[in-house]
Amino acid sequence: MKEEKVFPLFSEREIGERIESLAKEIAGVKFRDLMVVSLLRGGFMFTSDLIRALSKNEVHPKIDFMTLESYGTGRESREVKILSDIREEVKGKDVIVLDDILESGRTLAFATGLLRGRGASGIKIAVLLEKPGKRKVDINADFVGFKVEDKFIVGYGLDFASRFRELPFIGYIED
Ligand code: IMP
Ligand code: MG
Repeated sequence: MKEEKVFPLFSEREIGERIESLAKEIAGVKFRDLMVVSLLRGGFMFTSDLIRALSKNEVHPKIDFMTLESYGTGRESREVKILSDIREEVKGKDVIVLDDILESGRTLAFATGLLRGRGASGIKIAVLLEKPGKRKVDINADFVGFKVEDKFIVGYGLDFASRFRELPFIGYIED
């Protein structure tokens, strides 16, 4: 197998510092009965660091996980489906949805639409990364770790063909 070279973008330390400040921003918002919904698989490392940073800021949400998959249905068109759902009830709760990256916006539009349909009272979005200018649906994140250029990003949860998720830093590979 060809070994792709990973070019570093954000170090472990930069990510840690950014997450500490994101947690402070989130802690400054008044939530009622807060629940975190973490989108898998890409969001797992961001989630585990952010929730610990939230805890240090006296934010103690319920936490649940949802695995979504976005698949092609033809040229350019994609759909999102649920591979595994949350177990907690979201009705009447304030929810923050966490994901690795906001690109076309389809994944987060699907997740937030679903949770809204189930009666979540307030929904916010926190993403580790955002690729500006790539949106296919009109959706924005309330909390963004870093904006990135239009490159294929790997590491810190993000994969290329299930590889590179374990990297403690964020980088990119060339197409
Ligand atoms: P969406 O296009 O905003 O729906 O993003 C869909 C999903 O594609 C994200 O949750 C990521 O898992 C994945 N994704 C998007 N861009 C990248 C990337 O640059 N590297 C790795 N995964 C990505
Ligand atoms: Mg993902």
